[in-house]
Order: sequence, then C-alpha cells, then structure tokens
Amino acid sequence: MSKLRLAIVGAGPAGIYAADILLKHERSFDVSIDLFERLPAPYGLVRYGVAPDHPRIKGIVSALRDVLDSGQIRLFGNVNFGTDITLEDLKKHYHAVIFSTGAITDQQLSLPGIEAEGSYGAADFVSWYDGHPDVARTWPLEAKEVAVIGNGNVALDVARMLVKHPEDLLPTEVPDNVYEGLVSSPVTDVHVFGRRGPMQVKFTPLELRELGDMRDVDIVIHDEDFVIDESSQRAIDSNKQIFVINKIFSTWREREAATASRRLHLHFYAKPLEVLSDFHVKGFRYERTEPDGEGGVRGTGEIREIPVQAVYRAVGYFGTALRGIPFDSRRGIIPNHEGQVMNDDNQIVPGVYATGWIKRGPVGLIGHTKSDAMETIQHVVKDQASWWSPESPEDEAVSALLESRGVAFTDLGGWHRLDEKELSRGAERGRERVKVVDREEMMAASRGESH
Ligand SMILES: Cc1cc2nc3c(=O)[nH]c(=O)nc-3n(C[C@H](O)[C@H](O)[C@H](O)COP(=O)(O)OP(=O)(O)OC[C@H]3O[C@@H](n4cnc5c(N)ncnc54)[C@H](O)[C@@H]3O)c2cc1C
Ligand SMILES: NC(=O)c1ccc[n+]([C@@H]2O[C@H](COP(=O)([O-])OP(=O)(O)OC[C@H]3O[C@@H](n4cnc5c(N)ncnc54)[C@H](OP(=O)(O)O)[C@@H]3O)[C@@H](O)[C@H]2O)c1
Repeated sequence: MSKLRLAIVGAGPAGIYAADILLKHERSFDVSIDLFERLPAPYGLVRYGVAPDHPRIKGIVSALRDVLDSGQIRLFGNVNFGTDITLEDLKKHYHAVIFSTGAITDQQLSLPGIEAEGSYGAADFVSWYDGHPDVARTWPLEAKEVAVIGNGNVALDVARMLVKHPEDLLPTEVPDNVYEGLVSSPVTDVHVFGRRGPMQVKFTPLELRELGDMRDVDIVIHDEDFVIDESSQRAIDSNKQIFVINKIFSTWREREAATASRRLHLHFYAKPLEVLSDFHVKGFRYERTEPDGEGGVRGTGEIREIPVQAVYRAVGYFGTALRGIPFDSRRGIIPNHEGQVMNDDNQIVPGVYATGWIKRGPVGLIGHTKSDAMETIQHVVKDQASWWSPESPEDEAVSALLESRGVAFTDLGGWHRLDEKELSRGAERGRERVKVVDREEMMAASRGESH
C-alpha cells in the first residue's frame, strides 16, 4: 500500500484538523483527502454556531482556511452523506472514512408545555442568527419577557443575542435579516435559569464578564443565590475558572441599582418544572433548589412562577444519525473506541472512524477537536492492514459519480468565490463580512454568477 485515499465527512473544525494532522503525520504512505460537506460553505459551527459578536473566535477560520488551501485537500461542498453519497460509494473509492459531522439539533427537554407556541430550542435560534441556509429567514421576536433554560455558554450566547441592542451588533457579521428581526424585538427582560448554583455553572468567565459590558443592559442577580456552601467554596478554591466567576459576581453584587432599558436576570437554584401556556407561552414555573453538599442540588418544594412570553431551552446539542453508520441514540454519538467506530456487538468496524462532537458528544471548545483528531488519526495510520480495498480509487471517479447523480457539488474554488463575495459585500458597507444566507444564492456565488 503506497497511498491512503481518505474521505472525511463534515468540514467543521474536527474534520479540517483531522486532515491537517494526517497530512503532517509521520507515515510510510502518500495521502489524498476528499472532504465532503453538506453545506456550500465549510467550518461547521465556527460559521453557524459561534455568535456574530465573537469575531476573535471567528479568527480561527483563518487557520482552518490555511489547511484547506494547502493544496492537498479537495472540498466537495453541497454534498450530503446519506443521500448524495453513501457508505457503499465511499468503499468503492476510498480506503477509509472519518465522520466529523458534529451536532446541529437541540437536546430534548422533557417538560410540560415545552411544545407550546413561543418555546424554542437554542440550536434553532443560533442557526437563525448565524444565517444557516436551511432555516427560515424570519424569527418570531414578539416577547417582552423571555426565559432561557441552562447555564452553559450557549445559554449565555442566546441570552446576549436576545437582550443586546441590535445597533451594537451592526459592526459584526450579523446577517441583514437577523439585524432587521432584532430591531423589531420589544424585549425588555431576559431571565436565565440554572438548576444548580452560581459556582456550578458550565459557562466560562470571559463569556460571563462580557454580559456586564453590554450597553444599556443591567445585570440582575439575587443575594439569596450567593450563600456559599462548603462544596461551592471547594469549587472556588480548586477551580480557577470558578474563582474568576465568583469574583465577577462579587463585583456585580456591589453595583448600583438597575437603570438600563433592558435587563438580564440570572437565577440560580431554579429547576424547571413547566412552561405555562395558553397555547402560547405565558409563564415559566420552577422549583427552588438548594445545595446537597456534593455539587448537586435537591428540591426545596418551593414553587415559583414568572410571566414570560417566550422560552428558549439551551440544555445542550445533539448529534444526528447517519445512514448505515452505527449510532448511540441515547448519547447522540457514533459509538467508538478512541475514534474507531464500533458496531452493535462492540466490534471495531474496519475503515470507519469518527472525530469531533459526533465522536465525543456536544461539549468542548474548537481547540478540543484538535486533540480529538490526533487520537483518531493515530488509529487510522496504525490500522493500515484493515483499510478497505477500493475498486475505483482514481481521483476523477468520485466527481463522475456525483455528476452522474445530478449532485450540484461545489469545490474549493467555489468556496473562495463565495467567501470573496461576502468579504466584498462587507467592505462596501464598512463591515468585515456580510454573509450570503440563501442556499441558492450561495450556490450561485460559488459558481461565480452575480445574483
Ligand atoms: C452556539 C455555539 C457557539 C459556540 N461558540 C464557541 C466559541 O465561541 N468558541 C469555541 O471554542 N467553541 C465554541 N463552540 C463549540 C464549537 O463550535 C465546537 O467545539 C466545534 O464546532 C465542534 O466541531 P465539529 O467539527 O465536531 O462539529 P461542527 O462544527 O458541527 O461541524 C460538523 C460539520 O459536518 C457537516 N455535516 C453534518 N452532517 C453532514 C452530512 N450528513 N454530510 C455532510 N456533511 C455533514 C456540518 O454541516 C458541519 O459543517 C460553540 C458551539 C455552539 C453550539
Ligand atoms: N463562547 C464560547 O466559548 C462558547 C459558546 C457556546 C458554546 N461553547 C461550548 O459548546 C459546548 C456546548 O455548550 P452548551 O451550553 O450547549 O452545553 P453545556 O455546557 O453542557 O451546558 C448545558 C447546560 O444545560 C443545563 N441542563 C441540562 N439539562 C437540563 C435540564 N433538564 N434542566 C435544566 N438545565 C439543564 C446544564 O446544567 P447542569 O450543569 O446542571 O447539568 C448546563 O448548565 C460547551 O463546551 C461550551 O463551552 C463555547
């Protein structure tokens, strides 16, 4: 074997880092990599998850772009694994495949009333505000008071995007339709609910501090949530992030009373019980909890309600099953041992690998997908003896197959054209980028057609 033809499905950070690591890995064979992506644009959640007012993180894109531009990777955009191309096809043309398809949907939350009109999943809202081509262009922003369930970074992103004055998003790459939607929002109060205490949050200090810097938005926190028990004190003493988070809260607790036109309320020890609705959301009921001494909480039996007209659940993302690939429907991942995919009998499936959120579950930062990819690639390299033996390994065979099926795939040149269009639209308006949101328009820009 002198060459590994590798297919990678999913051009988010996990897939791109996997390609980069393999290309730089010490090995005794040549490599050619084809990267399949169901959207006409690469970068996954870096483009369609990271909030528009986080341009520093978006800078990671330039590192990912360098990998794509290395000249050793072909990009097949607008190709959906499972419909446009299947596992059987890949076996005919490649020696192995890595799935890096991430997670795009919301974790379910079993709560009475969660299906009411006005109750939304954070992932859907994120897709809307980041201009994902597969979601509607409008979002119902009619609520004055909103509840956000969860204490992770996504909950903070969603709360910030809901409460921030839209003019302050204008210098960012917020899509036009999103800016217009946010301008029409009558929101005054966003309430974020964590079921545990302020020292058991999943969000990070930078993201918390940022909330306090929003113009004309006051942070409201409650003294009753800051009785520090022994396990919270241990968290403050042993965890640097929690130490900083505690400091931020302490500063906020000393601030003057609220005077801003919008407020962001942070409630802790608040376990969700019910979304109150009259067809449409009209309130949120929760139970006050208390520390159980071990970092967890127990209910106190004290029930509270607040009026809200919209509820967003930000309780985690969830992976999607891929046709013909084992799937753990409880965890929303492809079952694997260090990236080697396992079947229902716990046996390794030769030639099939996973990396990123679909391998590990939807937690962790972009940087974590690098270490993930390293582990998976170690196995790909070592498993040479069990790679597939493709009957048509020629480079042109895959393009010919997609063309024969009428799949309108894009390539790296197409992505460059789309990227250029977004940058030049941005430059015309003094902004870094104005995203093309509509899929047809994205495709036209990839083909170099003006629209
Ligand atoms: C709202 C939100 C904000 C975040 N903000 C930050 C942040 O500021 N900083 C940070 O470090 N981390 C952030 N993260 C975490 C970060 O986005 C993830 O760690 C990272 O994106 C996971 O990478 P991935 O490649 O596994 O998945 P993804 O980024 O989801 O990429 C998966 C790719 O696979 C493609 N795909 C899926 N199915 C198919 C298919 N059937 N066929 C072909 N292609 C397919 C998708 O279109 C996508 O492009 C955020 C996460 C979320 C949810
Ligand atoms: N700016 C950034 O760096 C950024 C931005 C967004 C996302 N990310 C990363 O992306 C990953 C995913 O973030 P995430 O916010 O989706 O997930 P997360 O960090 O796992 O947070 C999920 C939150 O939902 C809560 N939750 C879960 N089930 C619940 C229930 N039944 N009732 C009430 N609350 C419930 C959890 O509470 P418990 O802790 O009590 O379980 C937790 O507070 C994280 O690693 C995050 O750091 C990073």
